[in-house]
Amino acid sequence: VKRDAGRRLVHETWGDHAALLARTEHGRDGSVGLVQARVIDVATPANPLRLVGGGELPHVAVAYETYGELDAAGRNAVLVCHALTGSAHAAGRHRQRDVPGWWDPLIGPAKAIDTTGHFVVCANVLGGCYGSTGPTSLDPETGRPYGPDFPAFGVRDMVEVQRRLVEALGIRSLKSVIGGSMGGMQALEWAATHPGLVRSFVAIAVGARHSAWAIGLNEVARRAIMADPRWAGGRYPVSEQPEVGLGLARAIAMLSYRSFDSLEARFGRERRAADDESLSSSFEIASYLEYHGVKLVRRFDANTYIALTRAMDDHDVAEGRGRLDEVLAAMHQKALVMGIPSDVLYPEAEQRRLVEGLPRARYARLSSPHGHDGFLIEFTQLAAHLRRFLAEVDA
Ligand code: COA
Repeated sequence: VKRDAGRRLVHETWGDHAALLARTEHGRDGSVGLVQARVIDVATPANPLRLVGGGELPHVAVAYETYGELDAAGRNAVLVCHALTGSAHAAGRHRQRDVPGWWDPLIGPAKAIDTTGHFVVCANVLGGCYGSTGPTSLDPETGRPYGPDFPAFGVRDMVEVQRRLVEALGIRSLKSVIGGSMGGMQALEWAATHPGLVRSFVAIAVGARHSAWAIGLNEVARRAIMADPRWAGGRYPVSEQPEVGLGLARAIAMLSYRSFDSLEARFGRERRAADDESLSSSFEIASYLEYHGVKLVRRFDANTYIALTRAMDDHDVAEGRGRLDEVLAAMHQKALVMGIPSDVLYPEAEQRRLVEGLPRARYARLSSPHGHDGFLIEFTQLAAHLRRFLAEVDA
């Protein structure tokens, strides 16, 4: 967002943003170009996915993208894990929709996660709504979308689905598993569950277990969805989502993704033009939150939001494994833990606790005023840390 001469806020379009990225250091490096998501089924009725919640799925579609080539030994793969509302589209562009991947500045030829030497994989999580099996998928038993009846699952189930994908792709050893926020939870679970398969991991803006604060925020967001009359117990028609509730959930989350200083510096007490009557409040911050709510409603599903936030709330890397300090001490892989001092959702103390407990972890601070969202904004710093870490993994 820029200010014009009249001090009104002017919204940059994504095109402006992409042009800006293209001018930066990482943007000068290559792009993976046009990419396409693929889908495979990693379960069969004879080999179903048994979920931590007790249910099972006879079929599990996984939508994924890959960039670069797998080497003959099957050891140069890097798995990138997305956050709550993300997708498998981490890099490059789609032919149909010219939207760059969510970590495009970091993944590509000569970029920090260099696709000339690495085989990069990103998959939409189990329970997601971007091509993998989740609440919007058809339940084979009823022929209707699972909706609120999608069986309960956790981050460990997401990892098991990815493990089956990794096996199907012929990967023998993962050089690294990398993710921020919910992606960081997956990285931690991968390292704890599959020590023989994962050589290193990067956990960004995440803790060893979901805190009361983060669970509370998710709970309020879920209640916002459920308070919408269109919620209908989760049995809403696809075209009639509880838009108000989901938009409100996003607005609550957006506040937790930013920080006092970031919002104050960007919006302060700025107001919109008097002729704009579409909003109940004239403050720019209200407009910003409403905009992001509407944007999410267009691309995401309310049942999915509820299911994924519940999986995040259950995240606890020590659950069923023993004392947290002992569990962390047993995770022997090289690790890079990154935190953002202005992150109010997963405060830096949570990453420090990880670094203190993990025997081979190093800490890197992303200095940013933008809070939790820093892991989707501070590309230059992220690039420097990731490049250095990946060079160290097998050294
Ligand atoms: N009123 C209305 N809209 C506004 C606005 C205002 N006052 N100020 C900015 N906007 C719009 C911009 O026009 C722009 O629209 P576009 O995306 O359609 O082009 C959009 O807001 C830009 O968002 P902003 O948050 O300002 O971008 P950023 O560069 O600071 O951050 C992201 C980029 C991707 C991190 C951020 O947009 C986002 O989506 N954050 C949430 C991601 C997330 O889920 N994080 C947590 C995972 S657990």
